[in-house]
Amino acid sequence: MLHNDQLEQWDRDNFFHPSTHLADFARGNLPQRLIAGGSGCHIQDRDGNRLLDAFAGLYCVNVGYGRTEIAEAIADQAKELAYYHSYVGHGTEASVTLAKMVLDRAPDHMSKVYFGLSGSDANETNIKLIWYYNNILGRPEKKKIISRWRGYHGSGLMTGSLTGLELFHKKFDLPLAQVLHTEAPYYFRRDDTDQSEGEFVAHCVTKLEELIAQEGADTIAAFIGEPALGTGGIVPPPNGYWPAIQAVLDKHDILLIADEVVTGFGRFGTMFGSDHYGMRPDLITIAKGLTSAYAPLSGSIVSDKIWAVLEQGTDENGPIGHGWTYSAHPVGAAAGVANLQLIDALGLVENAGNIGAYLNTAMRDALADHPNVGEVRGEGMLCAVEFVKGKDTRRFFDAADKIGPQISGKLLDQDSVIARAMPQGDILGFAPPFCLSRNEADQVVAATVGAIKAVLD
Ligand SMILES: Cc1ncc(COP(=O)(O)O)c(C=O)c1O
Repeated sequence: MLHNDQLEQWDRDNFFHPSTHLADFARGNLPQRLIAGGSGCHIQDRDGNRLLDAFAGLYCVNVGYGRTEIAEAIADQAKELAYYHSYVGHGTEASVTLAKMVLDRAPDHMSKVYFGLSGSDANETNIKLIWYYNNILGRPEKKKIISRWRGYHGSGLMTGSLTGLELFHKKFDLPLAQVLHTEAPYYFRRDDTDQSEGEFVAHCVTKLEELIAQEGADTIAAFIGEPALGTGGIVPPPNGYWPAIQAVLDKHDILLIADEVVTGFGRFGTMFGSDHYGMRPDLITIAKGLTSAYAPLSGSIVSDKIWAVLEQGTDENGPIGHGWTYSAHPVGAAAGVANLQLIDALGLVENAGNIGAYLNTAMRDALADHPNVGEVRGEGMLCAVEFVKGKDTRRFFDAADKIGPQISGKLLDQDSVIARAMPQGDILGFAPPFCLSRNEADQVVAATVGAIKAVLD
């Protein structure tokens, strides 16, 4: 195997790593991790260490690593036709087939899919389509977008604005003025600890109604949300949240974007999170699980209601002025087709539901009584452990103590298990590939218990 022993130095000297403390990395205070291979739920670094990846990369390698079926589909497509564009009615067998496969899996009221490259650009597309939609309908004032604190929707100018995490705004002059944020549906962190789950949902609804009243419903175009908060802490919504929010949106003629970048194609054991929680979205954002990250590809799934207005718009204004060179890239589309076929063939959506439930139960059983574990929560193949200083008082640790990162670091060093220290709060996140076995789930739980013990006891 190729082994360039200058690679570590080249990395420090030349490579701008995203979401990284740049100065610490340059000074050599942050470890380098060069990954060389992967198979199933494991990856291997350049020194030959084998790690159990309980976060599936960035919750995206849903079918697991090393799937030759997808690699071969990519190679075959690249050999036959590496690229052609999809402007002005062009397409390829792979892109047209994938659009059909996505629509076959999407809720019935969805009509078309526009393909991009990342979750961020798909959400940028969604906002542009919504602004266009309201202009065509003659409501140029109806443009603001409501997102939630702790939502994550990408890190572009608009999508970084929609993201409700301080780190993504601070010093970047974000959020943009058209974006508003409302209460996160994060029951564990509610201000009033006496509130029942039902009362907390009513509180979220009141906050949303107040924001709409303050801004004027005729200025608000859409509401965007992940079915369950992801990067903001892996937080399934409280019972009844989505139907209650949907009712407010319907009342004020506000569109709903379901950001299913993490949840689309099976993470909850259902094809989409929207199905799972009773959302009725006008647009659905997809990315990660569409190709299981074997190639970059994302999509905006457009409902019948929006599509009819987009058609009207092009009758009035000419071709839609939106598109990327790499929209529906054939190599990405071929990866998507092979990925969705593999998910079906191996029953991975069902496995995500079953093993996800097993993992969540095992984690809860192992940790629920620990004095520093405030909550174990999850849904399907998403699980989170949130740490507190004092369980009875729900006191949180100081961010400077870096409890979450310490525990994820220990998990890696002690047992070679990868979990993610979520960026806001002391929260350990798990989002394994859907092919995780019971044995591997047990390993993840045992390693987590050990790492917590090592750091906190
Ligand atoms: C819910 C959600 N939306 C959008 C994005 C942005 O996707 P990308 O990083 O591909 O731009 C992410 C990424 O983690 C995400 O979790």
